[in-house]
Amino acid sequence: MNILEAIKNRRSVRTFDGTDLSRNDAEKILNFAAKTGNPYGIPIEWRVLHAKEHGLSSPVIVGCDTYIAGKLRRVPHAEEAFGYTFEKVVLFAETIGVGTTWIAGTMNRDAFEKAMELSDGEVMPCVSPLGYPAKKMSLRESMMRKGIKADDRFPFGALFCDGSFDKPLTKEKAGDVAPALEAVRLAPSAVNRQPWRVVLTGDKAHFYEKRSRGYDGGAWDIQKIDLGIALCHFESAAKELGFGTRFGISDPGLAAPADTVYTASFGFGKA
Ligand SMILES: Cc1cc2nc3c(=O)[nH]c(=O)nc-3n(C[C@H](O)[C@H](O)[C@H](O)COP(=O)(O)O)c2cc1C
Repeated sequence: MNILEAIKNRRSVRTFDGTDLSRNDAEKILNFAAKTGNPYGIPIEWRVLHAKEHGLSSPVIVGCDTYIAGKLRRVPHAEEAFGYTFEKVVLFAETIGVGTTWIAGTMNRDAFEKAMELSDGEVMPCVSPLGYPAKKMSLRESMMRKGIKADDRFPFGALFCDGSFDKPLTKEKAGDVAPALEAVRLAPSAVNRQPWRVVLTGDKAHFYEKRSRGYDGGAWDIQKIDLGIALCHFESAAKELGFGTRFGISDPGLAAPADTVYTASFGFGKA
């Protein structure tokens, strides 16, 4: 399975078949996580944790006792760096048949943070179960998916703009890079809010965060994690499509709608 397929196939898995994660799969995932960096150069420490050993639980997860969690220093761009790297791990897990769900809220956080031996100045933004998807979703899971409209995404033209925010981008105009933007559109986000917006100017894709009502982007901004996920999907897909990419943080100074703030850009091109 390649990355574009993994992006299309991935969904949050909350009902597992009860089989323990194999030692081999756990090692593969940990090794992958350990060698995966992010464009911000922020290091992240990963651990695979066993629910029974550490008293971990999540009310939305059934049939899985193994989790992965990561911790990092609470520094500028920690959220985007975590989002980017953890999503790489999530997509890798998908390619080897291991199901995941990003979890920021629905867990006994204190127990997870204790298991991670979190110290002052560190943060453990999210965890994920690691296991083998059950053949059938639990009723709770399917109700939850309906409640947050987990299978829906905003249309292409509502998320991506052509040169300026007032001009929706079409797939035709995006041309060869359209599948990389489509990969962004399919990404997971907290409560499926899809806060990413991208303005394409020539060979640059500028990423913005459209803050949802009630989010002020304060000391810790979970929607920046979603932006990190979007950056991961764009770069991974663009590379697979044969583009070279260059990451940068350089605000192009475009007029942006209310509550929409610049995050980062990718230059892209084919040799
Ligand atoms: C940063 C982040 C935090 C999330 N936190 C939770 C959570 O606490 N509990 C949960 O059940 N799902 C959580 N999710 C999963 C989203 O609800 C899910 O990705 C979204 O509804 C889209 O569904 P999909 O992943 O199946 O495509 C989170 C996702 C992200 C990206």
